[in-house]
Amino acid sequence: MKNTIIPGLAGVIADRTTISTVGKSGLGLSYRGYSIEELTKEADFEEVAYLLLYGELPVKSELDAFRKRLTSLRGLPVPLKSILEQIPAGAHPMDVMRTGCSALGAMEPETSEAEQLKCVERLLATLPGMLLYWHHFHTSGKRIETVSDEERLACHFLNLLHGKSPTKEACNAVNVSFIIYAEHEFNASTFSARVTTSTRTDYHSAITAAIGTLKGPLHGGANEEAMKLIDRFSSPDEAEKEILQMLERKERIMGFGHRVYKEQADPRSDIIKAWSKKIAEDTGHELLYQVSERIEEVVLREKGLFANVDFYSASLYHMCGIPTVMFTPLFVFARAAGWSAHIIEQRATGRLIRPTAEYIGPKPRKFVPVEKR
Ligand code: ACO
Repeated sequence: MKNTIIPGLAGVIADRTTISTVGKSGLGLSYRGYSIEELTKEADFEEVAYLLLYGELPVKSELDAFRKRLTSLRGLPVPLKSILEQIPAGAHPMDVMRTGCSALGAMEPETSEAEQLKCVERLLATLPGMLLYWHHFHTSGKRIETVSDEERLACHFLNLLHGKSPTKEACNAVNVSFIIYAEHEFNASTFSARVTTSTRTDYHSAITAAIGTLKGPLHGGANEEAMKLIDRFSSPDEAEKEILQMLERKERIMGFGHRVYKEQADPRSDIIKAWSKKIAEDTGHELLYQVSERIEEVVLREKGLFANVDFYSASLYHMCGIPTVMFTPLFVFARAAGWSAHIIEQRATGRLIRPTAEYIGPKPRKFVPVEKR
């Protein structure tokens, strides 16, 4: 094989997958053959999670049973609650997610691969509760129950966050964002989960690695950074002026650009943008939407960069009353389904992932004992 270095592994086909396509070869973005456009119109996140994990859409009885299992698994173990109480109030919620997942893995370890789907369902069910138990404990001293009557994960999260039943529109909007965030082929965090899995380690170790990878602002952390940017402007004109200056200074505009979507727009962005517009009209956030739209126009016009999935999810989450620091954890709740599908696939078909490097360090040299250096 020819030794070619591909920085960032851009364009490298690292393995085969049956889970999703990301718009190459004219296939569009699809999960197990179903287009993202259709899934976001027709399905609930739970159906999509089932599709990713089990390979097929559930029939009614399978979906009912899956929902029932997820709702019954929402309670947190008591020792996990004490760990969440020890995490400082000023910690980043992504650190809470990473620590919570790791701690759950220590308390309820996966002792054999036969248990993998049990671990997946338990984690999907508990992630929102972990975040919001920690949040309420540190903001109001309340030790909340992490169960609710809401069947859908999106509504369950909003209910625990706000302490009341969410509006149907907010539920539907967050549900769509979860479908969109659920899976995206060999992105950095999924690849991280696959690398970790390839050593035959346990499920929680792979997800913990993926959460750490998603946290970075070049990946999942971009939705939080995009919101901080949008929030700085009180008018579209002010936004345009500042964005032009940022581009002049060669600064990155978070929520724009993508490793895969260079010639074509990120198909997820149009879907989430339409929801952001709708929720802006419903909730009186038109100005925020107009500022976002102007930023999008300027970055496309000046740099030829399309908005990615994180840009309009940021304004959408803000309009649903979700604190900015929780945006990336919401990505975790959804992507945990995709990561898990990849862990299962990697275990079934993959090989140890261990590339190699070209050495460019110092030439061979003689060791000098410490007292003579
Ligand atoms: N703002 C300004 N310039 C940008 C941006 C941006 N958001 N993205 C890329 N560029 C520029 C780079 O500066 C570089 O310019 P140069 O050739 O003059 O040096 C050129 O475009 C190519 O950029 P790369 O970083 O090489 O592209 P790559 O494919 O490696 O990066 C990435 C993709 C990391 C997503 C990048 O576009 C970026 O940093 N975007 C902002 C962060 C972001 O939104 N991340 C979320 C991605 S979606 C997701 O993970 C769910």
